[in-house]
Amino acid sequence: MLNRPGKLRVAVLVSGGGTNLQAILDARGTVIQNAEIVLVVSSQPGAFALERARLAGIPSVTLSKKELGGQGAFEAALAKALEESSVDLIVLAGFLTILSADFTRRYERRIINIHPSLIPAFCGKGYYGLQAHEAALARGVKVTGATVHYVNEIPDGGEILLQKAVPVLPGDTPQILQRRVMEQAEWILLPQAIQQIAAERLNEKC
Ligand code: GRF
Repeated sequence: MLNRPGKLRVAVLVSGGGTNLQAILDARGTVIQNAEIVLVVSSQPGAFALERARLAGIPSVTLSKKELGGQGAFEAALAKALEESSVDLIVLAGFLTILSADFTRRYERRIINIHPSLIPAFCGKGYYGLQAHEAALARGVKVTGATVHYVNEIPDGGEILLQKAVPVLPGDTPQILQRRVMEQAEWILLPQAIQQIAAERLNEKC
């Protein structure tokens, strides 16, 4: 599984502002001890996440499905970039391009995602960004949160790795709730999940 002994080599896939990417970068040397971030891939030209990668000195590449001419070309280019950087683990951090079943099977148990709800609530096709929070508020739940899970061919359907609950408070808007879930759950869970996987896989090597 690992390319070589030592640190797990991680690629972070992004589409937007990159606050989850920043949380991962900031956790290097503290929460994250056994992994290194070797590549950032953005599906969105000009995403601020690319600037965060640049400031941290992490190589990055932009791969736009539209510009590459479709899903097949996009995934071929993504696989090539991942192989060239000898990536062990792929982290979807606010990444908005759907990956095909062919791709997720090829990287079985090597892709994780952060979803802004307590799966199986408010997840699956169509629930991304603010939509999970809008649905949570519409249903009137008093607790929501975030989930880190392995990615398979079912949207938000892979094995759950970590979850953290966050309260829903009176007066919450989708935006306020999104921010609380990011601060109190997403930015904490994602670095923890990376370290957990890195530690497990390094133990397997021993
Ligand atoms: C937020 O919608 C968050 O809930 C979801 O990704 C978005 C954050 O994106 N998981 P980013 O990490 O700031 O790019």
